[in-house]
Amino acid sequence: MMKHLFALLLLVPGLALATPKFGTLKDTMKELGARIKTISLQVDNSSLDTQSAALADEVAMLADDSKTFVPDLIAQAPAGDRPAMTTQYGKMLDETRQLAIDLAAALRSGDKVAAKDRLAKLTQNKKDGHAEFK
Ligand code: HEM
Repeated sequence: MMKHLFALLLLVPGLALATPKFGTLKDTMKELGARIKTISLQVDNSSLDTQSAALADEVAMLADDSKTFVPDLIAQAPAGDRPAMTTQYGKMLDETRQLAIDLAAALRSGDKVAAKDRLAKLTQNKKDGHAEFK
């Protein structure tokens, strides 16, 4: 009994962590995009770097959450095409996540050149991801 209770205590936070915060890919992407927009608008304001970095941390998590959804384009593709498409979808969102992690680090070190470079790369990543999967 105690053993089961213990297992349950371990499982519940694990499930909570694995559950996406927003119900759909569309909403998750909207939240992700809103944070990047805020960061872009205030990137030159050094007094907001800590806040911007925290938003970039959230972008990384939202990119991860996005991977738990299956875009319609993949769901509707021939079954044989889906595994490769899913791999590519995950790879592009891993790039989003890594760019957000790099962006957070750049903001925390006050490196505006690096921060702007990562923001530009995120814009390109969005274009590429949407061209392929939206
Ligand atoms: C910085 C990166 C990104 C931003 C800011 C972003 C932003 C957005 C936004 C705002 C939407 C909702 C648009 C609407 O109102 O219909 C959206 C939808 C979508 N995005 Fe992204 N996106 C990014 C990267 C990606 C990547 C890398 C992929 C794929 C690998 C992707 C796949 C999709 C798909 C499939 C949808 C359609 C969701 C649906 O309506 O079911 N996005 N994105």
